[in-house]
Amino acid sequence: MKLQLENLKQTIINAINEANSLENLENIHNEYFSKRGALSQMMANLRNLEPAERPAFGKLVNTVKDEVRLLFNNKKEELETIKLNEKLLLEKVDIELAGDKFLQGSIHPLNLIIEDTSSYFISNGYEVVTGPEIELDLYNFEMMNIAKGHPAREMQDSFYFDPKTLLRTHTSPVQARTMLKKEGKPLKIICPGKVYRRDEDDSTHSHQFMQIEGLVIDKNVSFANLKETLQSYLDFLFKGKVEMRLRPSYFPFTEPSIEVDVLFTKKDGTTTFIEILGAGMVHPNVLKMGGYDPEVYTGFAFGIGVERLAMLRYQIEEIRNFYNNDLRFLKQFKEEF
Ligand code: PHE
Repeated sequence: MKLQLENLKQTIINAINEANSLENLENIHNEYFSKRGALSQMMANLRNLEPAERPAFGKLVNTVKDEVRLLFNNKKEELETIKLNEKLLLEKVDIELAGDKFLQGSIHPLNLIIEDTSSYFISNGYEVVTGPEIELDLYNFEMMNIAKGHPAREMQDSFYFDPKTLLRTHTSPVQARTMLKKEGKPLKIICPGKVYRRDEDDSTHSHQFMQIEGLVIDKNVSFANLKETLQSYLDFLFKGKVEMRLRPSYFPFTEPSIEVDVLFTKKDGTTTFIEILGAGMVHPNVLKMGGYDPEVYTGFAFGIGVERLAMLRYQIEEIRNFYNNDLRFLKQFKEEF
């Protein structure tokens, strides 16, 4: 038995020395170290010895086991290190390799106007709301004090889905929607969005464009408040004192109504006034339909032409530039980030 153990030990040592992969070691483990392996078998054979000899031989088997186990573990560590090094070598990253180029986008000039406008009004306590582009005649016209057959509908001819549904011609229907939602409580909102009109496209007109609606309703809201609001906003947007001109105008949903021009210096140095928005005091009928008592509440509203402002701020002369997605045009607004 002793000789047998001695031979087994030598066999195992040879096997370990010759092993050159972790798979080899795995096999060695199964063959000799596992529960059914040769070393366990050796222990089991104790049964065949005289009881008096068993403890000494048992001890011997354990010593051999410890010895070869140590050898086995060392070999395992060695092979694992080799394997890891091979893997690291394969996974080496060449940091000098030319990288992939990522195109960096930029914010569209119309969105730059909307973002600046929103941040101005948000910091003055306004809420930013939105409404649907497919709108009901009810909100787009009727609740804006433009009854069926009203001549003002002529100015805002649109695209109809059916007699009751159309692409909104302005962001004003959001006034009506918000008033109903606020159920007679004071409100301050702006609403940026797309609007549509049946119009011939040219360098300053488009059948689809953007507006930012504004509406404030409270007790004691005055025309002076409207004027001050617009002046401060424009000064903010154009980063300096803007010369503003108010002209009397007509909208069925405001009374009095105005159109607002700003003084603009052209590339050749000459100046001219350019219209950028319509505004006025909310008409009592509009307040009533929206659930507000015009004897208690007053309000002002405005509708800003986003394209107009962008054209002024960035000296753009062709409105179609905004919609063509020409990268040579869009890239110019990168530094605005
Ligand atoms: N909705 C008007 C337009 O599109 C603009 C406007 C809005 C005027 C709010 C007065 C008050 O022309």
